[in-house]
Amino acid sequence: MHFTITVDSHVWEFTASDLLLHNTPDDYWVVLDGKVYDVTLFLDLHPAGRNIIIDNGPDITRGFLGIGHPERAYDYLSDLVLGDFIEDPVQEATTAHRLLYWAPLGLLLGLFVYHCATS
Ligand code: HEM
Repeated sequence: MHFTITVDSHVWEFTASDLLLHNTPDDYWVVLDGKVYDVTLFLDLHPAGRNIIIDNGPDITRGFLGIGHPERAYDYLSDLVLGDFIEDPVQEATTAHRLLYWAPLGLLLGLFVYHCATS
């Protein structure tokens, strides 16, 4: 089997959340040494069977390198690669979040000042 994924020069990036969406034997992505691979079609071609990949996934780095795969295995990888693995971006506090946080405190302070001023 040989297939090539043609992408433009853009480097695609994927996070752990993306991997969770492709975590079934019918649609299985793995991470190996900072890169993401779609191994769905490869699972049945793996000489040591499909389960050993799934059991070692989705981050197969230790399993794959631990076995000491020969060059032939790396040839497959270049056909299966999707892009880079990156950390999930930390969610920035949005203006709406800040408003929700500070509005009740502001209201309380206002009531307190009003109470002091009128008593
Ligand atoms: C996409 C990832 C992987 C690719 C492309 C791949 C590819 C290969 C290839 C081409 C072979 C045959 C090597 C030879 O000619 O001697 C092989 C063997 C083997 N692989 Fe993988 N492999 C992958 C992931 C894994 C993982 C995660 C494990 C888990 C530990 C694993 C365990 C093994 C074992 C134990 C063998 C030896 C089979 C034998 O000699 O009977 N592989 N793999």
